[in-house]
Amino acid sequence: MKAKLTLAWVLTVCVTITWAAAHGQYYSKTVPYSPMKEQVTNLHFFFHDILGGKNPSAVLVAKAKNTTIGDKSPTPFSTVFAVDDPLTVGPELTSEVIGNCQGLYASTGQDNLSLVVYFDFGFTKGEFNGSAISVFSRNPVLETERELAVVGGRGKFRMARGFAQLKTFSVNQTNGDAIVEYNVTVFHY
Ligand SMILES: *[C@@H]1O[C@H](CO)[C@@H](O)[C@H](O)[C@H]1NC(C)=O
Ligand SMILES: *[C@@H]1O[C@H](CO)[C@@H](O)[C@H](O)[C@H]1NC(C)=O
Ligand SMILES: *[C@@H]1O[C@H](CO)[C@@H](O)[C@H](O)[C@H]1NC(C)=O
Ligand SMILES: *[C@@H]1O[C@H](CO)[C@@H](O)[C@H](O)[C@H]1NC(C)=O
Ligand SMILES: *[C@@H]1O[C@H](CO)[C@@H](O)[C@H](O)[C@H]1NC(C)=O
Repeated sequence: MKAKLTLAWVLTVCVTITWAAAHGQYYSKTVPYSPMKEQVTNLHFFFHDILGGKNPSAVLVAKAKNTTIGDKSPTPFSTVFAVDDPLTVGPELTSEVIGNCQGLYASTGQDNLSLVVYFDFGFTKGEFNGSAISVFSRNPVLETERELAVVGGRGKFRMARGFAQLKTFSVNQTNGDAIVEYNVTVFHY
């Protein structure tokens, strides 16, 4: 009798523990993490933000009424653009395309033209074909040289961090088309 009860008790405990493991937990056991060795990759390319013409790569998607800055600038305060901008090896749009930048930028400067960018730079050529870096940063476009934060990445750039150094290569004052040179330092695994 006692042996039977003990067996039943052991079985009940086993079933309860198994059930708790299968249904009761939404997290794994926390264990120490030993990171792999970090590597660094430098990227250099040109970004084409095309606002004018028949095939713009940056399109206005939202705009507040009655902006204080007025409509003279292509990106007055409070406007939001969606972009799918080509990335090329050289400054000419006809040079080799190595990826594209998809995302949004919002014109967030009240006094001076400045953007906040939410970008995913996806690469389509060479070693980093299929990989991408994520950038989220303020971008004071009127300053000649500026820096954006790389906050993550995908594929070979998974868990990336780093920074992008930017220089405006040219701007068409009539339609706002801009070509920007990027030097990106990416730390990844
Ligand atoms: C925009 O400005 C006009 C003229 O100043 C004013 O009549 C109108 O109420 C304003 N609209 C909004 C949404 O603030
Ligand atoms: C904004 O622009 C004005 C006029 O161009 C300039 O005097 C001022 O220093 C700028 N402010 C910032 C924060 O860049
Ligand atoms: C990039 O990767 C895609 C998908 O794997 C593949 O179809 C394409 O041929 C690759 N392009 C280059 C240039 O390697
Ligand atoms: C990128 O790096 C190259 C080589 O060091 C340099 O000539 C160029 O001016 C840099 N451009 C930017 C935007 O930092
Ligand atoms: C600048 O944009 C205007 C209007 O779209 C165009 O006529 C002109 O050719 C462009 N300038 C350059 C240097 O591309």
